[in-house]
Amino acid sequence: MVIKPPVQGLNGRLALAIAAAAFGSAFQHGYNTGVLNAPEKLISQFINTTVHERTGSYLDEGTLGLKWSIVISIYCVGGVIGALLTGIIADKLGRKGGLLWNNVTVLIAAVLLGFAKAAGSYEMLIAGRFVIGFNNGLNAGLTPMYLSEISPMHLRGSIGTVYQLVVVISILVSQILGLEPLLGTETRWPWLLAVTALPAIFQLATLPLCPESPKFILLNQGKEIEAQKSLTWLRGTIEVHDELDDMRAEYEAMKLVSRVNLKDMFTSASLRMPLVIACMMMLAQQLSGINAVIFFSTKIFESAGLDTLTSQYATLGMGAMNVAMTLISLVLVEKSGRKTLMLVGLGGMFIDVILLFLCIKFQDSAAWISYVSIIFVILFVVMFATGPGSIPWFLVSELFSQGARSHATSIAVGVNWSANFIVGLTFSPLLIAIGPYVFLVFATILGLFWLFTFFKVPETKNKTIEEISAFFRQRGYN
Ligand code: GLC
Repeated sequence: MVIKPPVQGLNGRLALAIAAAAFGSAFQHGYNTGVLNAPEKLISQFINTTVHERTGSYLDEGTLGLKWSIVISIYCVGGVIGALLTGIIADKLGRKGGLLWNNVTVLIAAVLLGFAKAAGSYEMLIAGRFVIGFNNGLNAGLTPMYLSEISPMHLRGSIGTVYQLVVVISILVSQILGLEPLLGTETRWPWLLAVTALPAIFQLATLPLCPESPKFILLNQGKEIEAQKSLTWLRGTIEVHDELDDMRAEYEAMKLVSRVNLKDMFTSASLRMPLVIACMMMLAQQLSGINAVIFFSTKIFESAGLDTLTSQYATLGMGAMNVAMTLISLVLVEKSGRKTLMLVGLGGMFIDVILLFLCIKFQDSAAWISYVSIIFVILFVVMFATGPGSIPWFLVSELFSQGARSHATSIAVGVNWSANFIVGLTFSPLLIAIGPYVFLVFATILGLFWLFTFFKVPETKNKTIEEISAFFRQRGYN
């Protein structure tokens, strides 16, 4: 019989641990995703002036565009590398330990980004973007893992969603701070980039007060008393026996099998399928085209007929809707379940993007069509926020037991950042080449991921990790 942990809710200490991990780390991810949106012209100008000061001549539009795209995309390259190192770091330094050390990279990046202008070096900007990308990739692996491991079972989805909630809040904050009356000016943009140091300072002040993940302490380090202390602290009660028994059972089961190595992830039948599912959900998140919309929304709104200022405000409105819907999904994820929300989100985005395509295609036939397409852009983000935005981050932790979790996270989060990189690199050229038909490419991809989710993804709501692993061990699920 599988022992279910007792139903214990949120308390002040657990909330502190969630805030310390999520605000400290997910903020970096969202903030640096959105921060270069508004000051693009200012920073491009800085690059051009720097080159002029060095060589006496300005860059042509193409070369400047190329340098700008390096500044943008090197971020995802850093992200892939950080993500791939998650497994090693999470197992060597621990989840909390890894998160704390990762703040060193934020401070290095903040110095590089904040002083690039003063030093007259756009190379520092590129280096800073790479380092902060590395930080964000590692955070995207470590934080959902820590959040999932400190959560009581019935709150695992909601607490896991906090990661994405902070990502979307910080995208919005970066877009607001990037406006001209705030930090989006020629002299203030270095501050805009250096703001990223603040959440690191917050995390360094708060996370040391919280314990390491009890699962890591017991299952990776074999320290039972320390694990019990951590669990007691997090639950705010000494009544943690059932939950501890459950962890002990997992520990005993783990001792019977040999240690999972990276090769096993691909060769063992019971690990391969959950790995494919975790990676497919990450691909669904990125290949849906979400970042194309997040990055180009202002341009999309402008081409739909809004003036620049109104388009910027519409982008903020879209960001606010993203936050609101993510907040709603935080509650829904424990009621409707992960699979249902993924299906609703992907299905909604699929229909939405086809309608958006039709609007853009026929936008010259009537003036009102432009306004309808604005609604479809916003709805696209709302559908994304119902599930595809948040669920992939924590689903990978739910699909694997302790022995394989960190390797699986490394691979799945690495896939996420690689796909992010590919969409970032190909969207603009694709748009130039095939125009609005690019939205049909996204529609096809969304349709395929919907089918995969429908046929292959199991529901993990209210199941212990042991139950989920047992499901994959059953013969025939391949
Ligand atoms: C997810 C994606 C990220 C995207 C964000 C938008 O976190 O991983 O790339 O920018 O959602 O809400």
